Amino acid sequence: MYSVGIITASDKGSQGKREDLSGKLIQTMIEEKGYKVEKYLVLPDDEEMLAKEMIDMADKQHLHLILTTGGTGFSERDVTPEATLKVIFKQVPGISEAIRYNSLQITPKAMLSRGISGIRGKTLIINLPGSPKAVKESLGFIVDTLHHGLQILVGDASECGGS
Ligand code: MTE
Repeated sequence: MYSVGIITASDKGSQGKREDLSGKLIQTMIEEKGYKVEKYLVLPDDEEMLAKEMIDMADKQHLHLILTTGGTGFSERDVTPEATLKVIFKQVPGISEAIRYNSLQITPKAMLSRGISGIRGKTLIINLPGSPKAVKESLGFIVDTLHHGLQILVGDASECGGS
């Protein structure tokens, strides 16, 4: 069973001014697929703080997967991709490409998410957009393919078996 950390980036959420429906939705969706959510944080849109918690989840807690939501747009406080870029060792553009490609079939506004994906050690980090609707759609497009990527990342599988 792969372990998951969820980070919601939201100034209002971190101050208790907005209920974090998106983080909870990620938890429900990912647990339905057999993953174990070990850590769930609601943080302000602060690059240093986001990066620090991602490093902690990857290097100290050895979580297999970190899913973030929010902070991927154009507002001045949106810095989740910048925090993620700081901590990853390798980019995984295909995951974010798949999110945007599929999301664009639903709304042209999907082009406004700057979310990225990448690997730090044996941890995969993926930025999802912030609204519950965007989370449901974005995670829905990629969730079934993550398992195979994680199998290879952590060494449970060495080959793709041709598919
Ligand atoms: N992706 C999907 N699948 N569905 C959506 O409704 N909303 C977009 C985009 N991605 C959306 C989506 C909108 S309106 C914005 S502004 C960006 O995500 C950035 O969102 P964020 O700043 O909350 O991360």
